[in-house]
Amino acid sequence: MSFAETLLEWYGREARDLPWRRTRDPYAILVSEVMLQQTQVARVVPRYLAWLERWPTPGALAAAPVADVLAEWVGLGYNRRALRLREACAHVAEHGWPDDLGTLPGIGPYTAAAVGAFAFGRDELPVDTNVRRVLERTGFTPRRTPPELGQALMELGAMLCRAREAACAACPVSASCASAGAVDIAPRGRAGDGIARERFEDSNRWVRGRVIAALAAGAELPEGIELERLERAIASLIRDGLVRRDGDVLSLPT
Ligand code: ADE
Repeated sequence: MSFAETLLEWYGREARDLPWRRTRDPYAILVSEVMLQQTQVARVVPRYLAWLERWPTPGALAAAPVADVLAEWVGLGYNRRALRLREACAHVAEHGWPDDLGTLPGIGPYTAAAVGAFAFGRDELPVDTNVRRVLERTGFTPRRTPPELGQALMELGAMLCRAREAACAACPVSASCASAGAVDIAPRGRAGDGIARERFEDSNRWVRGRVIAALAAGAELPEGIELERLERAIASLIRDGLVRRDGDVLSLPT
């Protein structure tokens, strides 16, 4: 069996049953891919299901107030992604899905390829960090890239060919892998790797999320955050158009 056949056979046997793998609805796939760009699969699943129940179509999302969309997005990371998702859906609701999905506002090459492959069945390979790592390590250069192959490469990267602690012994394609048993299994944050790892709770992104959550809930601004950090986060939210200031009153855009 070829590398691709072996991988696909493994995927057919071992793939996780994820809700976005049971649909070809481009809107559902788009929602899943945007959510998965910054949040782990296990956390995305319930949020994805709730989102589709609340806004089952591009038109429903496009018609929703921005404040509701931001509130539903709380905890899923960069808020601008939610606004761009809504803008893309407004375009789709009015004009339908374009042939070139990359022309939708805020949809980059990865997301365009993922929707093209998983919803429209095109031979496109969405290359995210997992897929890139698998291709680089294995040396595999697919000739054809049917949608299932993209899913299988993602699954291999997520479950076995992980960035750290790759499970080469359990890997279905280790016999034809250029790096089998020789991948870098450096633990997280090894000394000297030059990356200062900021705790998420210390990050501006976290403070921004707290502010949005408070405004969405109609609550007071979060307590226990240094005033200077709070102000910096609010200023950046206003700059990004995610929060409005009217005198002393902050609100979410409508
Ligand atoms: N990460 C990004 N897209 C994914 C998908 N379709 N399935 C699982 N993980 C993913």
